[in-house]
Amino acid sequence: MQIKNICCIGAGYVGGPTMAVIAYKCPDIQVNVVDLNEDRISRWNDKNLEKLPIFEPGLAEIVSKCRGKNLHFSNEVNQKISNSDMVFISVNTPTKKYGLGAGKASDLKWVEACARQVANNATGYTIVVEKSTLPVRTAEVIKSILEASKKDSKDSSAKTFDVLSNPEFLAEGTAINDLLNPDRVLIGGENSLSIDALSSIYSRWVVKEKILHTNIWSSELAKLTANAFLAQRISSINAIGALCEATGADVREVSRAIGSDSRIGPKFLDSGPGFGGSCFKKDILNLVYLCEYFGLDEVASFWESVVTLNNWHQTRISKLITKKLFGTISSKKIIILGFAFKGNTNDTRESAAIQICRDLINEGAYLFIHDPKVTKDQITKDLEVKPLDQNIEENSFNEKGSWKHITDINESLFDADAIVILTEWEEYKNLDWDLAESRMRKPAWVFDTRSIIDANSIKKYNFQFWRVGDGS
Ligand code: UDX
Ligand code: ADP
Repeated sequence: MQIKNICCIGAGYVGGPTMAVIAYKCPDIQVNVVDLNEDRISRWNDKNLEKLPIFEPGLAEIVSKCRGKNLHFSNEVNQKISNSDMVFISVNTPTKKYGLGAGKASDLKWVEACARQVANNATGYTIVVEKSTLPVRTAEVIKSILEASKKDSKDSSAKTFDVLSNPEFLAEGTAINDLLNPDRVLIGGENSLSIDALSSIYSRWVVKEKILHTNIWSSELAKLTANAFLAQRISSINAIGALCEATGADVREVSRAIGSDSRIGPKFLDSGPGFGGSCFKKDILNLVYLCEYFGLDEVASFWESVVTLNNWHQTRISKLITKKLFGTISSKKIIILGFAFKGNTNDTRESAAIQICRDLINEGAYLFIHDPKVTKDQITKDLEVKPLDQNIEENSFNEKGSWKHITDINESLFDADAIVILTEWEEYKNLDWDLAESRMRKPAWVFDTRSIIDANSIKKYNFQFWRVGDGS
């Protein structure tokens, strides 16, 4: 079966880049990305590529090559579904805030709504592909909604469906490269016709050996497991980092030593401020919920401890900053460098910066927050505290602590007590330390949670320097 028209529901961090790459590699396929969010779609269509809703290296170039030719963004969800042979579901699946499974299970209301939209609008044979990370057995939910619609329809032969699981493994910040050169593409399903149709899309640029076929439940579970394993490595190294600080060891040296064991490998061993992003925490909690549901309590608590350690680690950092600044940060000026959950993305979901900044504000600090790609509005939403726009040197803060958004780091250095690096943006690697030294209040602290500053070169300056996992 030759796919000619694709519709992707959800123009977010997964749907947008994934469809841009499919369109780029398959000029003969029309790719329609649809979303309910009008603002998001108009930004995807903006002539000014700086305004795309997602910042991702290499994305704008691909969008500019394909948009208007075989890559289209619109709000016409129903119409685009009805014209498609294949529909990808790439909508949000956040952790449930209330009800059964609250705090752990994923909220499937958006996925369910999509399945109903597909059920109502699809025509002929349609392959439905789960792209969003979903709890195991979600395909069953989607299938039953689609099957029910066939029974409802007067002419049941007119609509047929197959459901596939094709989880996304891209990491933000490197999404385009991950999509162009994936370690593997995973396709879970039962029907070889639909599996072959999806495989033939990826096989335009991915070698056959890397396109793995599994049953649908293994595919869904493999995605959760991959993220749980990756997150587990980060909690493990952050736990060891705390021990390094206590014992005089250096976590970078420990990482290098263990990472050169080929059974362990060097990747994902960087101690940082704690993992963030939309997937890790959500997926582990999902796994925990699943284990509890099946009565596997020990397995559930094993995985839950990965998240517990991460939460503890973020709090450990904010407490440590307070302690180093003589046990009080009330009315102290702290420059925060980076708010995104990692470098090269404007995404702040579950960013360690959120918890750390909230803790510091609650302690009474005045934060001057900088991030090259995250907007003031986004930071306001995340912190749930309005920023102060006034000139704080004129005593406009109250003793509760607050924050201000800054775009010029150098202009904000005057009388600052500390600089805290929370995201590994390239531009933070070469700050003007001469200027910082002359403008900051002494003793001035530099806290590097990402290990991006050269520890030897900063020693020349009159700073107190702390970096994660360094007990030397
Ligand atoms: C992750 C998975 O990597 C990806 O395969 C999946 O599809 C989605 O979830 P993402 O969350 O975009 O991707 O980024 P990732 O690079 O995995 O980083 C997640 C978090 O871990 C970030 O906060 C990052 O800073 C942190 N991290 C990563 C570390 O603290 N240390 C490391 O060594 C690696
Ligand atoms: P992800 O990181 O998984 O891509 P995002 O939150 O960035 O998640 O994107 C998901 C997108 O899906 C959002 O832009 C949201 O508006 C869209 N969406 C959710 N439900 C529907 C729906 N039923 N129809 C169309 N778009 C939807």
